[in-house]
Amino acid sequence: MNPQPSIDAVHDVLVVGSGAMGTQIGAVFALAGYPVTTSDLDPAALERSRDEVHRRLDRLAEKGRRSREEVDAALARMAYTTDSLEAASTTDFVLEAAVERLDIKRQLFADLDEAAPEHAILATNSSTIPSSLLMDATGRGDRVCNMHFFNPALVMACVEVVRNPLTSDATVETTLELARRLGKQPVRLNQEVPGFVANRLLGALRDEALRLEADGVAGFEDIDVAARTALGHPMGPFELMDLVGIDVSYLIRLSEHEQSGDPADLPHPSVQKLYEQGRYGRKTGRGWYEYAG
Ligand SMILES: NC(=O)c1ccc[n+]([C@@H]2O[C@H](COP(=O)([O-])OP(=O)(O)OC[C@H]3O[C@@H](n4cnc5c(N)ncnc54)[C@H](O)[C@@H]3O)[C@@H](O)[C@H]2O)c1
Repeated sequence: MNPQPSIDAVHDVLVVGSGAMGTQIGAVFALAGYPVTTSDLDPAALERSRDEVHRRLDRLAEKGRRSREEVDAALARMAYTTDSLEAASTTDFVLEAAVERLDIKRQLFADLDEAAPEHAILATNSSTIPSSLLMDATGRGDRVCNMHFFNPALVMACVEVVRNPLTSDATVETTLELARRLGKQPVRLNQEVPGFVANRLLGALRDEALRLEADGVAGFEDIDVAARTALGHPMGPFELMDLVGIDVSYLIRLSEHEQSGDPADLPHPSVQKLYEQGRYGRKTGRGWYEYAG
């Protein structure tokens, strides 16, 4: 019988990858009282990560959202290293937030499995790689799952916990409880589906918005108004596409189509047209909307 995880055994945490997500996730763990090591192959990324955490936590203290003492204690709980495996040897929970490449994640999971104590959970923050594609790189598929934070992780309350076919109930319950102890609102997924729950909802809204616009039912500005004022969304689907990047939306759909072969997964013709015109959204000054400056 494999040793099963338990929330009482989670003391030290390792976050692998100190990019946009790993940086803030590390700070979330530290603020919740967990000693956390953040690791990255790239020392410059670690340096940037440390600076960003200091900046963000200082701002929380300045705004009175956290006391100076809380922030200082959190910063004191954070360590940084380029040696993920050495750090893994004493950890109770690994949250992998490295670059979104299956080959890299599989190698990491194989190495982490060798290095980490038997009881440790290996969770991935991946948005598109389900842990069933990583579980067999390890000898502990029952202690592998997705723990999916949203960007920016310090702010967003949602954490999706997604089991693969081997994930044990103890792993799911421990990860859900850990998310609660971080002050987050976990969402339990009983099976893997592309996009998990939140991004699927968002995708359905975006697809419907694109259909309404293409059919001439309403202009994109008006559809955004409806999403904001009737549904209470902070921004409409077209504003969101411009923020995320038309190129990003386009390429994600292309890769979804490559995986499924389903023509319904191809980028919408309106998005393809913007992409071909180089109208990538805010980053190029033009997308659905025009941006000054
Ligand atoms: N960016 C988002 O909005 C978002 C939201 C939710 C989930 N995610 C997921 O989070 C993960 C990370 O995304 P990100 O946007 O932070 O990426 P990022 O590119 O900002 O950072 C990735 C970091 O991983 C490091 N890295 C690469 N290989 C490594 C290895 N073998 N060991 C240690 N570090 C390594 C890189 O040096 C880089 O600093 C991805 O799996 C992504 O799907 C991203």
